[in-house]
Amino acid sequence: MGKRILLLGAPGAGKGTQSKQLAEKYDIDHVTTGDALRANKDMETEYGTPRSFMEKGELVPDAVVNEIVKAALEDADGYVLDGYPRNLSQAEYLTEITDLDAVLYLKVAEDELVERLTGRRVCSECGTNFHVKFNQPEEEGVCDECGGELVQRDDDTEETVRERLSVFEENTQPVIEHYRDEGVLVEIDGEQTPDDVFEDIVDVVGE
Ligand code: AP5
Ligand code: MG
Ligand code: ZN
Repeated sequence: MGKRILLLGAPGAGKGTQSKQLAEKYDIDHVTTGDALRANKDMETEYGTPRSFMEKGELVPDAVVNEIVKAALEDADGYVLDGYPRNLSQAEYLTEITDLDAVLYLKVAEDELVERLTGRRVCSECGTNFHVKFNQPEEEGVCDECGGELVQRDDDTEETVRERLSVFEENTQPVIEHYRDEGVLVEIDGEQTPDDVFEDIVDVVGE
């Protein structure tokens, strides 16, 4: 059975960046509600479209994301879970559907998060993350991996970033405290270089 890794962290903490590498190293699935929702932004649900929540930086209703995660975990032999659970009710649901081998929290200060998010650029073809200062592509606006066009995410404007960070404080910080209280949370210094963060994670998860 592949490793089952939960990666927690604020918007911009580096969950996506690290998950991509972890999925390769351990040959497991990268399960991310954010990417799944972005791929289905205009899907009609009884609550409205994902877009209507995401553009404001609000959480998409639990019923929608729980369904996505359940289906993805059923299909996976090992996974790194990124962007879920984001509130205590999602955390309870996750406990019902799976066990976890590692629970990691990427800790990054708020000022740094804002700078990372407003400067992030994402490949429109393969989803690889770049940053205008911290992680520049070889050629401006072009993906190193696949040559695709780099774009800014709709929710990476300063105003929406602030809202996402306040939604995180209110809803997701209690999830982190929940895993801390259970004694399973391992905190990782997310302000190091991406390679150093990755090394720290692998030290915890093991080979
Ligand atoms: P989601 O896509 O999950 O966004 P997020 O949690 O806000 O996190 P990000 O993807 O913005 O950041 P990240 O931690 O992946 O950082 P990254 O590696 O890109 O969710 C989006 C929306 O979907 C939500 O707002 C909500 O509406 C909805 N949603 C999703 N899941 C949901 C759920 N469970 N329930 C309800 N709604 C849900 O890095 C950021 C930048 O920093 C990049 O430019 C990167 O190059 C750079 N960087 C990374 N690491 C470093 C480093 N070590 N040093 C310097 N720069 C770095
Ligand atoms: Mg992400
Ligand atoms: Zn690409």
